[in-house]
Amino acid sequence: MLGYDLAASGIGLVLVLLYDGLEQWRGVGALGFLVILAPILAIRHIYGLYRKLQNSGRELLDLMVKAIEARDPYTSGHSVRVATLAKAIAQELKMSGEEVEEVYTAAVLHDVGKIHEEFAPLLRKESKLTPEETALLQTHSVKSAELVGIISSFRGAIQTAVRSHHERWDGGGYPDGLAGEAIPVGARIIMISDTTDAMTTDRPYRKRLPVEAVIAELQKYRATQFDPRLVDLVVNSVTIRRAIAEMQSLAVHTREGVSEGGSMRVQARAMSLLRSRSSWPKIKAF
Ligand SMILES: [Fe+2]
Repeated sequence: MLGYDLAASGIGLVLVLLYDGLEQWRGVGALGFLVILAPILAIRHIYGLYRKLQNSGRELLDLMVKAIEARDPYTSGHSVRVATLAKAIAQELKMSGEEVEEVYTAAVLHDVGKIHEEFAPLLRKESKLTPEETALLQTHSVKSAELVGIISSFRGAIQTAVRSHHERWDGGGYPDGLAGEAIPVGARIIMISDTTDAMTTDRPYRKRLPVEAVIAELQKYRATQFDPRLVDLVVNSVTIRRAIAEMQSLAVHTREGVSEGGSMRVQARAMSLLRSRSSWPKIKAF
């Protein structure tokens, strides 16, 4: 807003000079001058509304992420860590500023579909999932893409990256069995960032791995699970390796800190916000 105000001040100054310098403007008078200023004020108002919409959209996303993480306390902070690493990789790939932001947003929202009620018992289950449960949980990427598509500005690159974030380079992933370059680059970046974060975080069934062990795992699955170019980039980039080390130090285990009541309140608030958008389609599982 400050930047706009400064720019608007410059325009105002030019108008004052024009008014002062041009004889014909004197005939128009103060009313005419106001007519010229009105569009500037209107633009300022519209810009303010746009910023408010942007902020409320971002807050809604934050809330949705918190709702997912309330369901799955072992992954607290996961989405933001994945997004931070994904953004660093996208920047190392020299993607444009807009593309980097798309990758970041898709990475923040990649598991948002896990907010659906049907996944709750699976996410809290500590023993091994049955094949049927695994198949059900694997539908979360499609559910995530459906939710992301509710926001029109997220349709396109962000939505396809979310849908395909479990596709594997060798074609053995889901939901569509895409392979190689057919997988959207944003999805390939999320796949490697997501797996890296999972390895750098303590889980109930294993301790986090040291950075060198993480790198060895990424190399082991180069060109099978992961895009080989991305593995080479992660292995060889000092910036990315430093980002992984920072992720490891930031990863915290917060299962004890999330109460059932708190979790329900966050989810209820997310659902109420989603439903308050009258133009949005109804979401069955909500
Ligand atoms: Fe996922």
